[in-house]
Amino acid sequence: MTRLVIISNRVAVAKARGAAGAQGGLAGALNSALKEHGGIWFGWSGQESEDEAGSMNLQRSDGVTTATIDLPGRDIDEYYNGYANSTLWPLFHYRLDLTEYERETGKGYERVNERFAEAVVPLIEADDLVWVHDYHLIPLGGALRARGVSNRIGFFLHIPWPPTRLFVSLPFHERLVRTMLEYDLIGFQTSEWRDSFLHYCSKELNAEVDEDSGTVRFEGRSVIARTYPIGIDWDHFQTQGRTGESRNAHQRLLSSSRERTAMIGVDRLDYSKGLPERIDGIGRFFDQHPDRVRDLVFIQIAPPSREDVKSYQDIRLLLEQKTGQINGARSEVDLVPIRYVNRGYSHAELFGFYRGSKIGLVTPLRDGMNLVAKEYVAAQDPDDPGVLILSRFAGAAEQLNVNGQGAVMVNPYSPDDISDAISLALDMPLAERKARYEAMIATIRDDNVQSWTERFCTDLKA
Ligand code: F6P
Repeated sequence: MTRLVIISNRVAVAKARGAAGAQGGLAGALNSALKEHGGIWFGWSGQESEDEAGSMNLQRSDGVTTATIDLPGRDIDEYYNGYANSTLWPLFHYRLDLTEYERETGKGYERVNERFAEAVVPLIEADDLVWVHDYHLIPLGGALRARGVSNRIGFFLHIPWPPTRLFVSLPFHERLVRTMLEYDLIGFQTSEWRDSFLHYCSKELNAEVDEDSGTVRFEGRSVIARTYPIGIDWDHFQTQGRTGESRNAHQRLLSSSRERTAMIGVDRLDYSKGLPERIDGIGRFFDQHPDRVRDLVFIQIAPPSREDVKSYQDIRLLLEQKTGQINGARSEVDLVPIRYVNRGYSHAELFGFYRGSKIGLVTPLRDGMNLVAKEYVAAQDPDDPGVLILSRFAGAAEQLNVNGQGAVMVNPYSPDDISDAISLALDMPLAERKARYEAMIATIRDDNVQSWTERFCTDLKA
């Protein structure tokens, strides 16, 4: 089988936490891809190096070889905190209000992409498939080509691709997309993001675009852009659900919520996840149904992330404030309506928490896919499933909103919409819960992370 060289900003092996754990869904997904194909996973160690050079650390664990480099403090500031997470992340999540346009961080971003290319080239063998991941490393394909790498190189974007009108607010937008056209295959989570990319290529670059096949022809090169919705590791997750750790977590949740219905949200603490808006929706539900405060307990698990970036510090404060206000106004000596937890949990524990929660609340303002939505459904008891409330702006909505069945869809900006959906879910009869579950479960089970990897790698090889 062809070896795989995976390149991503973060490298994580074994013990990856759940989809909202510190490393997000990407880590677990790539780990299982590598186990199957063999090869190397290269990226940043997450550590700061003492000097400019930074040495490579090779490790073999659980059948996967990882190669990591440390980065100097300036690179971490300009590349990770700066351009990746203060420019591209907000812009690609349609948050122009939070997007910073700094030439210096743009240079740092390009410098680190060059640094990555320099370090990884000696690890690439002639027949390897090279698979680059996410917005941190968009120009890496170009940097590899410039060093003579002629292997098949694919790129997968885990986050949305913004509409052209927003994207052109990025200085040097054309330069960034030109480097993308050095890849052989570009994958997007949904057809919406893929279409936006094709629209940009045709409108701004005057590239020749064939929408059906996703082929973009530009200056003698040809690249294919396709949709590959990422899935969960179904088998692994079900195995985790059968562990004592998972049963304990389930039991802890049930006994602490007693006769109240548990509703759960699990997200990295990120403004794209719509957490303050979600709390407003819950507040609206309590305002409209004060008699039901005793029926519901909301559990929000939100491990902090990107804590050196100011917009992340701000969102954390806002969330604490809103949660505190509702709990202050609605708590009784024996009842707290919102439990807000700032830490991550293992997959086994999350399975148990999801299983014990009759409502899953997944309401991002914009999200590439959102694997929490899929994990929540995957953890349900088929004979007595809970209800998934899902934002229409999550990539997962393309798969889980099945002809009005499947998830209960909401506009995450509307507190009334969230409040109505909670009412509906609380009172939903078993037959409807089962029908909605049935509408979603096949795609969640079958379109899993293994088939996602296979589809992408097969197309890349071709
Ligand atoms: O899914 C998007 C993503 O940026 C992944 O690339 C990343 O692993 C995850 O979110 C967590 O973010 P970070 O690596 O910045 O903690």
